[in-house]
Amino acid sequence: MRRVPTGVEALDKALEGGIPQGSWVVVTGEPGVGKSILCIHFAYAGLKAGDPVVYVTTEQEFRDVMEQARQLGMDFSQFTTYSIAWKKEPEKTPNIVVVDIFGLLKVARQLTERAKEESPEKVKRYAALSIDTLIEAVNEAYRILAVAGEKGAPERHVRLVVDSMSAFWVDKPVLARKYSYQLKIATHRDNVTAMLTSQYAPTTRQAYGFGLEHIADGVIHMWMDDVESAKEIRRWLIIKKMRMTAHDSKAFRVRIETGRGIVLERA
Ligand SMILES: Nc1ncnc2c1ncn2[C@@H]1O[C@H](COP(=O)(O)OP(=O)(O)OP(=O)(O)O)[C@@H](O)[C@H]1O
Ligand SMILES: [Mg+2]
Repeated sequence: MRRVPTGVEALDKALEGGIPQGSWVVVTGEPGVGKSILCIHFAYAGLKAGDPVVYVTTEQEFRDVMEQARQLGMDFSQFTTYSIAWKKEPEKTPNIVVVDIFGLLKVARQLTERAKEESPEKVKRYAALSIDTLIEAVNEAYRILAVAGEKGAPERHVRLVVDSMSAFWVDKPVLARKYSYQLKIATHRDNVTAMLTSQYAPTTRQAYGFGLEHIADGVIHMWMDDVESAKEIRRWLIIKKMRMTAHDSKAFRVRIETGRGIVLERA
């Protein structure tokens, strides 16, 4: 079985080398625990290894992701980027296909136009943060990277990041499970390894809609000790589940360091 390194050395060691190729790994945790930074490591490790990346970000512009990465010692500017929000098709296959809120808005508009043509009397309107829009956008990114692959063509391994999934069900958390399932059915491929984030409410420690964990092949949970009693930020990471892997079962202390990013230490 091929394993896909996450880009965080100690985590890869704890995972027998990495995430099994083709897995869907969910990173859960409250705000500020380091979920987005873990996604940046995962994407960067892929780019370094020659894997193209589909990067969905609902929270920031990709420029901000790149700036955060640069601070942590990961230079994304050496790779070619294409945003699906752009009008022109890329001339060459890019290293990174970005799906940000502008890309989602564009795809939602296209879907609504198509719906108008199909049934002008009852038009279905698509929102940028709807699961149908996300599915269409990811498939568009796959098309650009030719993920499906022509017959006989070598299959490239692709990394998919969705940060965050919670944005797609903020107003209807009960549908989290259904949406997660729809996304996986529509975008899962053997040659795509995915990392998706899910936010937890800091007060109740409950996911905003439980569901992503159920469809996941792996769950990496991150949290921090109560800052009021600890009087400092103490972050933790644990591998809660990883199919086909005799993974480490103890929590790591997490440090986020300028120039290095996530550094894990044994508790
Ligand atoms: N250059 C840096 N050096 C040290 N720590 C940093 C640096 N940049 C960011 N951090 C730390 O990382 C935190 C942000 O982590 P991250 O964005 O991954 O959180 P998150 O889990 O994605 O949160 P959210 O759920 O709000 O998106 C910051 O609050 C800060 O504490
Ligand atoms: Mg984040």
